[in-house]
Amino acid sequence: MGLDRAASIDDLRLRAKRRIPRFAFDLVDGGAENERNLRRNSAAFEEVELTPRYMVDVSALDTQVTLFGQTYAVPFGMAPIGMLNAFWPNADLTLARLCKAQNIPYVASSAASTTLEQLAEAADGNGWFQLYVSSDADVTDGLIARAEAAGYGTLMVTADVPAAGKRDRDIRNQLAVPFRFTPEVVLQCALNPRWALTSLRHGTPNVANYADLLQSATSYADVQKTLITPGFTWDDLKRLRTRWKGKLLVKGILHPQDAEKCAELGCDGIVVSNHGGRQVAFGPPTIEALPAIADVVDGRMKIILDSGIRRGADILRAKALGADFTFAGRGLAYGVGAGGQAGAERAFEILQLELIRALGQLGVPSFRDVGKSELSTFRQSGSGPH
Ligand SMILES: Cc1cc2nc3c(=O)[nH]c(=O)nc-3n(C[C@H](O)[C@H](O)[C@H](O)COP(=O)(O)O)c2cc1C
Repeated sequence: MGLDRAASIDDLRLRAKRRIPRFAFDLVDGGAENERNLRRNSAAFEEVELTPRYMVDVSALDTQVTLFGQTYAVPFGMAPIGMLNAFWPNADLTLARLCKAQNIPYVASSAASTTLEQLAEAADGNGWFQLYVSSDADVTDGLIARAEAAGYGTLMVTADVPAAGKRDRDIRNQLAVPFRFTPEVVLQCALNPRWALTSLRHGTPNVANYADLLQSATSYADVQKTLITPGFTWDDLKRLRTRWKGKLLVKGILHPQDAEKCAELGCDGIVVSNHGGRQVAFGPPTIEALPAIADVVDGRMKIILDSGIRRGADILRAKALGADFTFAGRGLAYGVGAGGQAGAERAFEILQLELIRALGQLGVPSFRDVGKSELSTFRQSGSGPH
């Protein structure tokens, strides 16, 4: 199936699956343990109904959103994804350039397979930086200083990795550091020659921001110790707030009391996220966690939501329940896997056109005005609006 016949993000996912060796596809596609949370993320969106209103003039639709002083074309951006070049060569730069071209934010991951400096240049003013607080304070300070020097204005601190997620698919695929070419991996590569040849040309991806430090790593445990810390606490966040002069967001908030603490510490925003269902299998889908968080935040910070967005209407659902903005992770990544730059463009276009169509169908000319009144009352009361 050609890219032009891909009607949805799910179609792009299937196309990517056919072009990428299983171990590399699973690395991005998989979730924690039995993947209950991964499945629930998308399923829960479907439970949120919006009721269309008609005979409203929707001949001109406005999807622009201003966030932290910058106006973006649509209310979604690219979430930070580590090691994405293993999924498709050059994926990081492809997506950073896409975000610049389409005027949406691109979040460069600490664990990206391209350096934060190269990504800042490619995203050219549309880049934000995502930080994993390391158990080595010097590593964290070094990354912050580099992010400042590279001109990032927004720092997104990820809170939801006190321990690495247990991803059963990666264990079954025997993913290891350093990467091992087992006979099974060689066979999977042989079955996907385009991926294999392009990957060969680009070289084995690594976590580029830590390249020097990780040269000596011999296990996942080593990598994790550098990337994350189980000792990251609210006191550390307080220090980060003082240290970072730009906009500060905390990513991975699911509990209203954690949202309250972020507001009290002077954060500029939070990302309601469960890491795309990759951390735990037992947690809530973000769209279900959102309303209680929005109540507590009450306009004091920006609320961004990710995890499970696969349709333009999901972005409207999130807005109706209190999110100012959203991020797609796999949604855009599948596009790159499905067809490199053209695939990334197709993924963006699918989400954008679905969003625009849904906005018109809903009868709200401006995305800014989507709110609680769009939520269907049929489901709660059993009787429709009067
Ligand atoms: C393969 C993969 C790697 C990820 N790496 C990071 C990361 O380095 N830092 C981070 O904060 N979040 C990371 N995330 C989580 C995403 O930023 C985002 O929360 C998630 O993808 C949203 O869910 P979605 O993929 O269903 O849209 C990663 C997600 C995936 C799928």
